[in-house]
Amino acid sequence: MLRFTHGDRFIFSIRMTNPSGSTAARSQVVDGVTLRLAPALASTPEWIGEKEILKQLLACWLTVDAKDLPLSPRVTGHPGIGKTTLAMAAARERKQALYIFQCTADTRPEDLLVTPVLAESGTIAYHASPLVTAMLRGGVCVLDEGNRMNEKSWASLAPLLDHRRCVESIVAGIQIYAHDAFRCCVTMNEDASTYEVPDYILSRLQPTLQMGFPRKEDELAILRYHLPFAPDDLLVLTVQFLQEAHRLNLEFSVRDGLHVLQYAIKRLALDPAHPLAKDQIWREAVLKVLGEEALDLQSLSRRRARALGDQPLPQGLGDFFFESDDPLHPDK
Ligand SMILES: Nc1ncnc2c1ncn2[C@@H]1O[C@H](COP(=O)(O)OP(=O)(O)O)[C@@H](O)[C@H]1O
Ligand SMILES: [Mg+2]
Repeated sequence: MLRFTHGDRFIFSIRMTNPSGSTAARSQVVDGVTLRLAPALASTPEWIGEKEILKQLLACWLTVDAKDLPLSPRVTGHPGIGKTTLAMAAARERKQALYIFQCTADTRPEDLLVTPVLAESGTIAYHASPLVTAMLRGGVCVLDEGNRMNEKSWASLAPLLDHRRCVESIVAGIQIYAHDAFRCCVTMNEDASTYEVPDYILSRLQPTLQMGFPRKEDELAILRYHLPFAPDDLLVLTVQFLQEAHRLNLEFSVRDGLHVLQYAIKRLALDPAHPLAKDQIWREAVLKVLGEEALDLQSLSRRRARALGDQPLPQGLGDFFFESDDPLHPDK
């Protein structure tokens, strides 16, 4: 058992042996309350391709002076583009333990921090979230899909995201300070099914690292990295399809490409003497994974553009003063 003190507060770790035989602290006492810690993620992926965005995230987490504090950036972009993977790969690059907290619309502040759980003995056990575990252990926490979370839960993180670097757990009645090595980032999807993150939180989640679609050679390398057994012709078809979709500003992503390939490969493996040609199987995979409209990207893109064009234009100042058919209307 190890004993630690932090200022005048007494903290100690209980060390237990896990099944692999190595020792890891499974719980930690903070201000007299024993917190059961969350497990770190066992494996972290490698980042393939564009190194610039990885460098930007690593720069945010650097400290250049004893008085310098790390930044907690938001990583934004379309779903399936690699945001979570980027954050995980950055933790791997820094050789830090990784914790992911999946944010949802019904995440409560105690889910983010400390949850009381009734133990078999009838007493209450306090479970630290992945975020609090990363804070205590000096790991990396990715708050994944942060814009799905409501304002009340975000409010509980305000002091963590500024110079105070601490949170207050109301249920456990304690304040928890982040280890110096603790790093954090938030991923946010650019889709409509999300909350508006309040401005005072956004101002703490800086800078914004905007992710774009990968270049052709990087996209091919990513697909090949995840599916090294994929036949070259299917890989090429998929990359061509994705690049065309990116060019037309359609939202199909690397994740979609991986699913199309996986299904096509499985379909071929089940029935190697399949009478259909490979590219027909690939088309079937696109249809099953992405729907019929994905088979004709050009028309899909035209339909989207038309739908946007049909939307009413925002009201201008003239609309407040003149009827639309008024000859004096400035836009007439
Ligand atoms: N640069 C990359 N290197 C390795 N894998 C990637 C890369 N970009 C995307 N991927 C893969 O694409 C899939 C979707 O990525 P993910 O990080 O889950 O996207 P997002 O979080 O933006 O929705 C994952 O399987 C991921 O491993
Ligand atoms: Mg993600």
